[in-house]
Amino acid sequence: MKKLEGTNIQFGELFTELNISPLKEGEIHLWAIAFNTNSPVFEACKACLTNQERDRISYYSFKRVQDDYIMSQGGLRLLLSQYLKIEPQNIQLRKHSKGKPFTEDDRGLCFNLSNTGDYVIYAFSRAGEVGIDLEEIRTLPDIDELIEKNFTEKERQYINKQKTERFFQFWTIKEAYLKAIGEGMRLTPDRLEFTIKNGNFELEAVNGIFEQEDWLFKAITPNEKYVGTLTYLGEKTRVGEMRILRP
Ligand SMILES: CC(C)(COP(=O)(O)OP(=O)(O)OC[C@H]1O[C@@H](n2cnc3c(N)ncnc32)[C@H](O)[C@@H]1OP(=O)(O)O)[C@@H](O)C(=O)NCCC(=O)NCCS
Repeated sequence: MKKLEGTNIQFGELFTELNISPLKEGEIHLWAIAFNTNSPVFEACKACLTNQERDRISYYSFKRVQDDYIMSQGGLRLLLSQYLKIEPQNIQLRKHSKGKPFTEDDRGLCFNLSNTGDYVIYAFSRAGEVGIDLEEIRTLPDIDELIEKNFTEKERQYINKQKTERFFQFWTIKEAYLKAIGEGMRLTPDRLEFTIKNGNFELEAVNGIFEQEDWLFKAITPNEKYVGTLTYLGEKTRVGEMRILRP
């Protein structure tokens, strides 16, 4: 078995123990990588980068930003290599015009990621497009302004009953949806209208127009200090438990 260039890590060694299964049609796998620069996982992420990506690291002035990039981009290549059975550096990663990444190597394998600093989380899907977002629950001095700017009247009523937690939960729902459809900032969050029925979130309208696609929203998190959302399609889609790669 080949070694990852520049390390003593065998290609795939990290995953042998985890016994990673192939991603079947209709399935979504969730992964998290815990941030730690003194770990074999971080070393492996670094080793997975292409020469072009390594050159890019030096353009970032702050070490923390460099390390974040190594972990999220290298981690993406590391995990994708397991599903594609292609060596990490040879995977053809591209971005759609609004920034959503995809791979030329398998257009049926959709994925998305979110980086909080302490964790990068990933969703890999053979059930159509996915969006994923994670936030640390924390105090925000401008929370009221953010609520006012990003949420509709009905949503504000719901959030204000349990402010911080509901704010972050709802924020990740909107963000994960915007990432699932690949829009990013092009569609502002206040243009999305959700209804909440028995604690379940349903997307009702986009830009005031009834939303026809049946997007689903699942709460996910690697640990209780964070809230996150996976947005996906298909009642019958099987979403696996989040698996965490720790040092
Ligand atoms: C990129 C964006 C979609 C999410 O950024 P973010 O939350 O700051 O960062 P995350 O770590 O969660 O996600 C970043 C990753 O999303 C992916 N991404 C980038 N653009 C994307 C897009 N248009 N669609 C889907 N995924 C995208 C990339 O993999 C990116 O990682 P990279 O920068 O290492 O390539 C952001 O530009 C954005 O537009 N967010 C909406 C902001 C907003 O107003 N939210 C309010 C919610 S109420």
